[in-house]
Amino acid sequence: MNAGETGRGGQMAAEIAEQPAVLDRLLRDGVAEIAGVARLVAARRPRFVLLAGRGTSDHAALYAKYLVEVRLALPAGLVSPSTMTVYGARPDLRDVLFVAVSQSGGSPDLVDSLASARSCGATTVAVTNNPSSALAAGAELHVDVRAGTERAVAATKTYTAELLALYLLFAGVAEAAPDPAVAALPDLAAGLLADDAPVAELASRYRFADRLVTTARGYSYPTAREAALKLMETSYLSAQAFSGADLLHGPLAMVDEVMPVVAVVPAGRGGRAMAPVVERLRERGADLVVVGGGDEVGARTASGEAALPLPRVAEELSPVLEILPLQRLAWHVAVSRGADPDRPRALSKVTETW
Ligand code: F6R
Repeated sequence: MNAGETGRGGQMAAEIAEQPAVLDRLLRDGVAEIAGVARLVAARRPRFVLLAGRGTSDHAALYAKYLVEVRLALPAGLVSPSTMTVYGARPDLRDVLFVAVSQSGGSPDLVDSLASARSCGATTVAVTNNPSSALAAGAELHVDVRAGTERAVAATKTYTAELLALYLLFAGVAEAAPDPAVAALPDLAAGLLADDAPVAELASRYRFADRLVTTARGYSYPTAREAALKLMETSYLSAQAFSGADLLHGPLAMVDEVMPVVAVVPAGRGGRAMAPVVERLRERGADLVVVGGGDEVGARTASGEAALPLPRVAEELSPVLEILPLQRLAWHVAVSRGADPDRPRALSKVTETW
């Protein structure tokens, strides 16, 4: 946390700043537990993975979907809890792994859909920040993300902890050693958060924006989604996230010279797949900023265009870092508009849906 961030938005700023320590704690204290859960899951040899979550945790679940499909070569899908909670569906879930992700472990639809999934034959895992939650109690297996109590309404440290926990979980299920680069994440995160000036400068561009688009592909698509959510809930601007591919299938038409666009471009295949998207955005004259460790970002910086370069890590790990400056961006935009990002209007810390 920087000096002067103890007033409005002080909680969110403190929790953003805690993330290097949270990642470090998970790597020190959580790895053995996660490896144990992964072994039990692997022994069941699931044929399909269903993931459930809401809001920020839904974005962590989306990240896990890419991990499962790419690294485990298993089909995966995001659950629509209403099929079970509203429509009473009871699908045959034998040989299915059902993973519910929730910092609080408290939303009734997640608790109920996990219970239904368990009764329908799925192996159930809860990934939460609350081991005494109803979700953790209802699941056969539990992963504690150990982020410490999160008080600001806008989830930050629980998101990156969920991402890392899911990365470790699915590396274990794949019976692969985690990339040794995970050990560097806490220091890389600390370095990134220490360099706040470019983010503050970017935030000043968006102070009066009323709409914005975020976009990415692959593992970083959840980053685009989560950045848009953070901006919407703290700064009240209309932020829409699109996969880079989907953006070209229609929404590109609404992009003009005054439309701010944040494109997340990591190093790796997902980042390379963004090259034609960035090209089309340039052609449209969008007010474009690229964020990430990809070549595109370096090239833009070199040519004096707006960019937030990030450290290069394996693409699957990059979402843990990418979101940090974007959380800070949402914080800055909110505070500069006179909003309190700790207490967004109309929201409470635990949202109950059915
Ligand atoms: C966003 C936010 C909410 C929660 C959502 C799910 O910053 O905090 O969108 O992520 O209500 O909450 P949990 O993870 O407790 O199930």
